[in-house]
Amino acid sequence: MKHFINLKDIPSKDLKKIIIDAKKRKHLRKKLNNLEIDKDAPLKGKLLIQMFEKSSLRTRLSFYLAIKQLGGSALTLRPDELHLSKGGESIEDTAKILSNFGNAFMLRTDSDEKLEEFKKFLSIPIINGLSPSAHPTQILSDIFTVEEIKKRSISKLNITWIGDVNNVLNSLIAASIKFSFKLNIGCPKNYYPNQKIMNYIKNNTNKIFIYNDPKKAVKAADVIFSDKVISLNDKVNKKKKLRDFKNFKISKNLMKLCPKAIFLHCLPRGTEVEENVFKSKQSKVWQQAINRVHVQKSILLYCLGKLR
Ligand code: CP
Ligand code: NVA
Repeated sequence: MKHFINLKDIPSKDLKKIIIDAKKRKHLRKKLNNLEIDKDAPLKGKLLIQMFEKSSLRTRLSFYLAIKQLGGSALTLRPDELHLSKGGESIEDTAKILSNFGNAFMLRTDSDEKLEEFKKFLSIPIINGLSPSAHPTQILSDIFTVEEIKKRSISKLNITWIGDVNNVLNSLIAASIKFSFKLNIGCPKNYYPNQKIMNYIKNNTNKIFIYNDPKKAVKAADVIFSDKVISLNDKVNKKKKLRDFKNFKISKNLMKLCPKAIFLHCLPRGTEVEENVFKSKQSKVWQQAINRVHVQKSILLYCLGKLR
């Protein structure tokens, strides 16, 4: 059994194995987005319990399809219906019940500490479905999408992130280290990653570069990533933050500086990308979203010790 909380804590070879497995499984399926069970049904009889303390569309649907296609089933708990959310039951006791009833637990939460607390008391794997500090299932799936579209190892590509320094970027930074790819980050100077992340970068790689000029950051890019300037439950002065990022919009003119680049966005989107880029040929966001099903499947197999 393996947990899946942060990419930085998972060995590179395991992350690469997950991607390889997802490629094989996707290739073997005819219909990618239905509930038909894969022939080997490796998770037959297994129950994934998922809980979202914050909104979700893609993560919710992709985990549901993923466990179903593997032959198992999913149950989504509403936090407001649990005793836990009202202080009526501890994480320890909740975790014990989850472990006795289910086989894996996927949690989207506003608290990194809560993930760690659950991990302490669960005897089944926990998967981080987005937390304040990371969105690991998203980024692993995005690596899959990049390699699928570019038909090359991501280690040979130039990846650029333009936008907020947030959970998704943190996971992209960890991925750059684990998969050894070049990563340019473009964001306003006063939003640069904090010291802890800077130290993590400094101690692990010389392939990450930070610019406060988006034009410099997109130079020679094969992939441009972005995300909302305002994340879920972001406690900031929204108007000010949006103003601070106004020069970091993904515009047609910016994309012209990297004509071979594809555009990716985890979604949902805000105003950080112009409509004509989002709907352009360079944009691969729908393929990116559906691919999450395929990578979630291999993440589940990894967590449950069934990765081939
Ligand atoms: N990208 C992503 O995680 O989408 P949801 O918030 O809709 O799950
Ligand atoms: N950074 C965004 C990602 C949403 C999928 C957020 O945390 O809201």
